[in-house]
Amino acid sequence: MSDSPVPVTVLGLGLMGQALAGAFLAAGHPTTVWNRSAAKADELVGRGATLAASPAAAVAAGSLIVVCVTDHRAVRELLEPLGDALPGRVLVNLTSGTSREARENAEHTAAQGATYLDGVILTIPSGIGTPEATILYSGPRSTFDEHESALRALGPGATFVGEDHGLAALYDAAMLSVMWGLLNGFLHGTALLGTAGVSATSVVPMLGQGIEAVTGWIARYADQIDAGVYPADDATIDTQRAAMQHLVEESRAAGINGELPAFVTKLADRAVAEGRGGDSYAALIEQFRKSA
Ligand SMILES: NC(=O)c1ccc[n+]([C@@H]2O[C@H](COP(=O)([O-])OP(=O)(O)OC[C@H]3O[C@@H](n4cnc5c(N)ncnc54)[C@H](OP(=O)(O)O)[C@@H]3O)[C@@H](O)[C@H]2O)c1
Repeated sequence: MSDSPVPVTVLGLGLMGQALAGAFLAAGHPTTVWNRSAAKADELVGRGATLAASPAAAVAAGSLIVVCVTDHRAVRELLEPLGDALPGRVLVNLTSGTSREARENAEHTAAQGATYLDGVILTIPSGIGTPEATILYSGPRSTFDEHESALRALGPGATFVGEDHGLAALYDAAMLSVMWGLLNGFLHGTALLGTAGVSATSVVPMLGQGIEAVTGWIARYADQIDAGVYPADDATIDTQRAAMQHLVEESRAAGINGELPAFVTKLADRAVAEGRGGDSYAALIEQFRKSA
């Protein structure tokens, strides 16, 4: 693997694409750019980027091609006409999408003679190129290894998650689920306390302690999930279900939206009906594994 800056191409210069191209330039990579609306390249050209006249010309100029446009549809519209330009190139798609779209892209680009890595950016444009930037990649390990040095220009947290092209998108979706789960719990709990005049700001210190405690349980529960056995060495689902019912009751009495605790209670009800009332909370994974 060589650390000398390889020529790179960035297709798509929206907010994120401009940040990506800027980070490659800052790391000394000869950088060719293309955008549907050419004016968005002006600032980058001023910093030394080369503006290509067409996507095909842009692809011909780089050995590593990064695509970052609005969505999967835009990716396909951009790549399909490229035909002859792609063979031998490595395409890194940093456009957000689903795992299915990532796998489809991999198939199409393979048919066009290119190697494909799918990536997920876990930061905002201003984080690109800084230590805060984590980007997850999936696809052939050897391709990631070969280009890791260039990809680290976008952020030192370049992380390979697996050879299945859909994995980066799946990690992204899983992290969104965790994030919204946490945020919704915060919003619901804060709405409840707000009915007694407690401000959102004063909830924060106690929430921090709660989140820290839950983080501690997660590793233990993950072991149980992988083993498929859920010994309740802390609290049983029966016990937690009773607390869930209190939360539903409190929400109702306070006149706030109780759908969130009602949903969680429903999951616990089903687990109890399946004989899992004596298991740990981790046994609810069995409910999430079923389609609704
Ligand atoms: N911004 C973030 O914080 C962030 C964080 C993580 C991931 N992402 C992902 O990064 C991707 C880009 O986001 P962004 O913030 O850069 O969006 P954006 O500022 O809206 O830019 C969208 C880009 O896509 C191009 N585009 C759209 N349709 C196209 C088409 N049919 N053919 C060619 N180019 C097309 C646009 O070209 P024109 O300039 O000509 O319209 C523009 O360059 C998205 O998938 C987003 O989810 C963004």
